[in-house]
Amino acid sequence: MSETRSYPRHAKLDAGDVEFRLMSRADELAVLEFAKALPTHDLLFLPRNISQPKVLSAWIHEIERGDITSLLAVKDGNVVGCGTLVRDPHSWSPHVGEIRMVVSAKVRGQGVGRALSQETFALALGAGLEKLSVQMTVDQQAAIALFESLGFKAEALLRDHVRDVDGKTHDIVVLGHNIAQVQAQLEAYGLAEAVQH
Ligand SMILES: CC(C)(COP(=O)(O)OP(=O)(O)OC[C@H]1O[C@@H](n2cnc3c(N)ncnc32)[C@H](O)[C@@H]1OP(=O)(O)O)[C@@H](O)C(=O)NCCC(=O)NCCS
Repeated sequence: MSETRSYPRHAKLDAGDVEFRLMSRADELAVLEFAKALPTHDLLFLPRNISQPKVLSAWIHEIERGDITSLLAVKDGNVVGCGTLVRDPHSWSPHVGEIRMVVSAKVRGQGVGRALSQETFALALGAGLEKLSVQMTVDQQAAIALFESLGFKAEALLRDHVRDVDGKTHDIVVLGHNIAQVQAQLEAYGLAEAVQH
């Protein structure tokens, strides 16, 4: 698997015409605006609060170092979604990637999240990753349904793991996708080629 995806890409979704492109330093202000408009509860799955300029600046630094790849969904010049693939090639989990994704509340339920998750998944395949993980607060029904439909399965529940701005704690669920195992199963059934074409 050494597929390299090229961007920008365009898709016609229920949300309208949406462009998917790689995030760079030039997007800093637009992403900050996008993040600030999100309900803070929807940011609890992230390790840091991306609506803070300092955190966003560190994120862009990681993109430039190549540790993170972020894709933006852009509609009519506005950022409406972001999907990120995080890897740590120097850790004991160089084969694992984490997907982080968030879509603007205004366009939810209109296909942006599904398209972003598929793009991010394709990036992970292109990078040769063998396993993927995602995490979210347990009440994010849409996120859980979306990733389960892509073959992710619950692997862990972290109780009272994050604390919101009002001091209330929330549980986090971790879902995993063993890409290598699924591919091996497809090959065993002779389906891998059928799926690729
Ligand atoms: C998860 C999230 C990105 C989905 O974005 P979205 O643009 O609304 O997603 P889509 O419209 O493409 O819907 C994708 C799937 O989610 C599920 N879904 C969407 N809205 C739903 C809802 N209100 N209730 C239950 N499931 C829902 C459906 O399974 C849908 O599948 P379909 O394509 O067969 O209809 C968005 O809800 C979000 O930003 N949540 C907050 C951040 C978060 O918790 N992220 C998860 C961490 S990775």
